[in-house]
Amino acid sequence: MSKPTDASAEPLSLDSQLEKMRHDWDARARENARYYVNTATDKWTDEEFFATGELTVQGEILTDMINICQGRDPKQMTVLEIGCGAGRVTRALARLFGQVYAVDVSGEMIRLARHALKDQTNAFLFQNNGKDLTALPEREFDFAFSSIVFQHIPSREVIESYVREVHRVLRPGALFKFQVQGDASLETRPDDTWLGVPFSDAQAVELAERCGFEPRYRHGAGEQYFWLWFFKRP
Ligand SMILES: C[S@@+](CC[C@H](N)C(=O)[O-])C[C@H]1O[C@@H](n2cnc3c(N)ncnc32)[C@H](O)[C@@H]1O
Repeated sequence: MSKPTDASAEPLSLDSQLEKMRHDWDARARENARYYVNTATDKWTDEEFFATGELTVQGEILTDMINICQGRDPKQMTVLEIGCGAGRVTRALARLFGQVYAVDVSGEMIRLARHALKDQTNAFLFQNNGKDLTALPEREFDFAFSSIVFQHIPSREVIESYVREVHRVLRPGALFKFQVQGDASLETRPDDTWLGVPFSDAQAVELAERCGFEPRYRHGAGEQYFWLWFFKRP
């Protein structure tokens, strides 16, 4: 008798993985976007949902303006967000910074984010291919940010592609602050678009070095919220 095959163990091409990310996140956005963005409740009011985005900006950005702005006026800065979802954090970023560009693999999420940011003329949202920043117009960015996005990406190759792409579009010296999954005890699979690949501290440092960044600070190694401060080497 032949052994039953475990489809999940079979390798998945990069294109299939990207297609699955877009498909799964579109489905989550249609079902209950705000819940999948922030699972604290499945019944968010507008006010409460966007207040949590303000809290993210307070906790991760306003406490860190020396590294982020490096003496610049935030209103003169052009910033990038990867994986903007329904615009929860993007809206708060657009209130603080001069211009915000954001990408997301899900067209459904981008549709919701456009609605949330319709009065914010300094925010520009793009559906991308899930791995690079070629959907963006030519710009040099002063800061890049990503929170609770890479923790869902099941491919190291895709995460590294984003880090290289951010290096391409950032001004020298500028910061890419982002969060990855640090908990290596989780069982991840190439076709699971909820649990992303974990990074150890050493893997994070190697990633930075390979992509032209200085991994100046790291916080939360071994935990779900493993924050990385990658400065583009001049
Ligand atoms: C949990 S939500 C977080 C959204 C937003 N960062 C926030 O904090 O409100 C994760 C988002 O990442 C997006 N995403 C997942 N994989 C992606 C990829 N490969 N490229 C771009 N966006 C991706 C999803 O579509 C979803 O909108």
